[in-house]
Parts: sequence; structure tokens; C-alpha cells
Amino acid sequence: MATQTLSLTIRSANENDLENLRQWKNEQREFFFYKDIITPEQQRAWFVKFQARNHDYMFIVDLNSKAIGCMGIRMLDEVWDIYNVILGLPDYGKKGYMGQALQAMLIYAQSVSQSPITLQVLKANPAVEWYKKNGFVAIAEQADHYSLIHQSQTNKEIP
Ligand SMILES: CC(C)(COP(=O)(O)OP(=O)(O)OC[C@H]1O[C@@H](n2cnc3c(N)ncnc32)[C@H](O)[C@@H]1OP(=O)(O)O)[C@@H](O)C(=O)NCCC(=O)NCCS
Repeated sequence: MATQTLSLTIRSANENDLENLRQWKNEQREFFFYKDIITPEQQRAWFVKFQARNHDYMFIVDLNSKAIGCMGIRMLDEVWDIYNVILGLPDYGKKGYMGQALQAMLIYAQSVSQSPITLQVLKANPAVEWYKKNGFVAIAEQADHYSLIHQSQTNKEIP
């Protein structure tokens, strides 16, 4: 029986990824705060601004060089903020790929700055449990969303 080696990597998103990023976000918009459909022009305008920002990273998750998802992390007020975590190709879900990619992104972010790692997630989103399994705990609750922080960071003060 032939065995196949799987290669899972995260890499910086580039211009060729914009259509995937746009479609994945539009398909999953019920899970996000921003609910409007994103047009190709808006996606390109986002990319231009994104490239000009410091400490704002958008990663593509590649499985054997095939883009299966994305995830972003940016520095806001000296705190890391995770955003736009999306499994784009449902066939590759529930296999641990996105969790492994998330851990790789956290390691990268900590190598840039050892700041607290936070995120906001809508209460109705099943991803709340996924984040908890991946090391996050709730630190605040608002009407429609939770604020989560990575557990290894709970001893760090949020400025
Ligand atoms: C959140 C999201 C990225 C998770 O994607 P996923 O593919 O389920 O992620 P993982 O594979 O890492 O999840 C692990 C699950 O796979 C299962 N699994 C199967 N094989 C596994 C393996 N070898 N290793 C790890 N987990 C494995 C785990 O048991 C776990 O299942 P459970 O949650 O029922 O316990 C995806 O559901 C998504 O894109 N949601 C919509 C967008 C969204 O809400 N994003 C967050 C907005 S804040």
C-alpha cells in the first residue's frame, strides 16, 4: 500500500490568494462580525491597506501546496488579535489541520512579540469550543461575543 506524506504549512497570503480569501469570507460570513458581501474591488482595496500595515499578518494554510484555509493575526494596542480564521475547503475539516496551523501562527507571533494573544468570537459560533480546545479561555463576555485569551498568556497584563 502506498503511503503519502502530508505537508502542512502556513505562508503569507499574496495577491493570487485574494479570490480565495474573498470567497471563503463571503461563504462563512454568518460567523463573523462583518456580514456584508465583499466584492473583488473591496478585497483588492483591503490588500493594499493590509500591505501598508505593520504587524498584520494573513496566512494561507497549505496542505500539500493546496490552499485549504486562512488565518490572520495583527497587533492592536500592544495585544495580538487573531482574525479571519476560516477553513475554506470543508473536505479538509475536523482533521486537526486548522488547529496545527493555528499553533504554528501563535509560535510565529510570539517570535515577533511576546504579547498577549486575544480574539473575539460571536457567542453563536461553534468555533468558541474549537478555540478552547486550542488553549484559549474567556476573559470577557459582551452581549453577542466573547473575548478569549490564550492560556499561556493569562499571566501577562493587557495594557
Ligand atoms: C473554526 C474552524 C477553522 C475549525 O476547523 P476544523 O477543520 O474543524 O479544525 P480542526 O480540524 O483543527 O478541529 C479539530 C477537530 O477535528 C478533530 N480531529 C480529527 N482528527 C484530528 C487530528 N488528527 N488531530 C486533531 N484533531 C482532530 C478533533 O477531534 C476536533 O473535533 P471536535 O471539535 O469535534 O472535538 C472551522 O470550523 C471554520 O472555518 N469555521 C467557520 C469560520 C469561523 O467560525 N471562524 C472563526 C471565527 S472567530
